[in-house]
Amino acid sequence: MKMIPLNNELTIPAIGLGTWKSAPGEVGNAVIEAIKAGYRHIDCAAIYGNEKEIGNALRTAFEQGIVRREELWVTSKLWNNAHLTEDVIPALRATLRDLQLNYLDLYLIHWPVAFKPNIISPDKAEDYLPLAVAPVAQTWKAMEEAVNNGLTKSIGVSNFSIKKLESLLNTCHIKPVVNQVELHPYLAQHELLEFCKHHEIVLTAYAPLGSGDRPKNMKKEDEPGLLENQVICKIADKHQCSPAQVLIAWHLHRNSVVIPKSTNSTRLKQNLESEKIVLDQGDMNTISTLNTDYRYVDGSFFVMEGNSYTNIFDE
Ligand code: A2P
Repeated sequence: MKMIPLNNELTIPAIGLGTWKSAPGEVGNAVIEAIKAGYRHIDCAAIYGNEKEIGNALRTAFEQGIVRREELWVTSKLWNNAHLTEDVIPALRATLRDLQLNYLDLYLIHWPVAFKPNIISPDKAEDYLPLAVAPVAQTWKAMEEAVNNGLTKSIGVSNFSIKKLESLLNTCHIKPVVNQVELHPYLAQHELLEFCKHHEIVLTAYAPLGSGDRPKNMKKEDEPGLLENQVICKIADKHQCSPAQVLIAWHLHRNSVVIPKSTNSTRLKQNLESEKIVLDQGDMNTISTLNTDYRYVDGSFFVMEGNSYTNIFDE
């Protein structure tokens, strides 16, 4: 498995199993199948609502000797309703309880957006906390405390723009190791990739396959398909592999981490085997023509008149 070095001396497996949208009743089995197939990196989040089932699967995997805890990389994410300094560690402890772990390998601030503590999904502007009340710098202090307490080995962010990273880098004591963002050939994010490389922050790609199983209210009618894209399909034919494997190999070529989601044992094995697909510079140049800065997950669900989150990606 390709490992990518982080700025804190640790290394992260380049391909991880995504668990966003993995249904209850399916995700546990997917995690076990993935570990048996050789995955050593599972990407989770409290808001995915499936950490308890994943925790049971991890316990089974450890008990059955399929993998040891120290061989596995487990990421989770702080939900938006726990950004106040005093709420971070309790949220992390709840995730650890659900996952049945003593520590995480990586804990991320899920979004640069804060809700009031009892709100899981806001439906009005008053459900949000303004950034001035819950500044990222304060949340980050508690994230740093979690590292110092041994509750997580590394900390990072998700959905952060260059502007937000710059501001965090100005105040942090422990640098984020990872910024997890939407990344695929339609949203190549060259500038963000370069910025992060310069600051030794690794990008992790979510929605690498276009995330076609998103709930209807998060989908637009005229979305471009990634797995069906003719350029990707042609390169897949050339390498005698699947379009998904080309999309995953593209991230490996760019030295990003990639977390394709699957609950299907054949597809999750296929995704892991993408490591064998080595794209050449010609393939990379051809794929780079596909960039249109298109977001599947555009953050518009956080935009409400009267809240302070109208331009999450600073675009
Ligand atoms: P499934 O879980 O049934 O395999 P993303 O990682 O971008 O969020 O995309 C996840 C979607 O892509 C899911 O619908 C998942 O379905 C599907 N998927 C995962 N792996 C593959 C693959 N190798 N080929 C085609 N579709 C895939």
